[in-house]
Amino acid sequence: MGRQISSEARGADVNELSIVAAGGYMLNVVTGGSGPTVFFVHGFPLDSRMWERQYRFSSVYHVVAPDMRGFGRSSVYEPYTLTELADDIEMLRNRLAQGKRIVLCGLSMGGYIVFEYWRRYAQHLDGLVLANTKPTADSENVIQARREMAEQVFERGTWDTVRGMMPKLVAQRSTPDSELVTARVAEMLAATKPAAVAYGQLAMAERTDFKDALNEIDTPTLVVTGEHDPLCPPDDTLRWASHLPKGECEIIESAGHLSPMETPDVFHELLSRFLKKIY
Ligand code: MLT
Repeated sequence: MGRQISSEARGADVNELSIVAAGGYMLNVVTGGSGPTVFFVHGFPLDSRMWERQYRFSSVYHVVAPDMRGFGRSSVYEPYTLTELADDIEMLRNRLAQGKRIVLCGLSMGGYIVFEYWRRYAQHLDGLVLANTKPTADSENVIQARREMAEQVFERGTWDTVRGMMPKLVAQRSTPDSELVTARVAEMLAATKPAAVAYGQLAMAERTDFKDALNEIDTPTLVVTGEHDPLCPPDDTLRWASHLPKGECEIIESAGHLSPMETPDVFHELLSRFLKKIY
């Protein structure tokens, strides 16, 4: 059964592929277009559909937006680390971009995966986009809360476990479009498998702290966050982004944590400008 695709995504020339990894799990990937390859890595607990308003980049670039292990339509059987998710991106780069260099764009959890990918495969990158994310690892309290959620989700189900995240994800605005975005995000959250929530939380809890490595990231990097993002606030983001040797940082007015969904035209403009400088 096909999943519901929004009108924005329908306007773009993209398809879904199933890629079987060596580990036996299947990754669902939205892809289309030709030219330099731009990967879009989603946040938690979302899936590739969070990028559907950016699929129009496929008119100029080769777009690849995977559902990471367990999320969306991808399968998962056992816990993993964010390093293994970075290896999944590398496997997809080899299969879908014929081993060519890429621009890697990730939001929040996707950004944590981008840092891991940079650590392992910096030589394969033409550029990085770090949207609504942070380089720091978690405090003990946050790690504990993630472990609790990972346990509870199998009993309570996904929606009851994650619905409290909704106000932190989407900024409160009362435009018809923001209501649509809120409904779309709720739909994605509710459809996420309990195992994806549990394994995603456990992987994020174990992640590496990259704050002392920022000045070694010698790749052009665009950092973006939303004016009203409570999880990755503008002041913190401007501060850490200033350590990137080739970084530029933009704060998107009126956006919350999901800037590519909430303010798609501004996000599109910033990313277009960045990509034009690289390619
Ligand atoms: C996300 O949007 O990916 C999450 O907020 C990341 C996190 O839980 O740290």
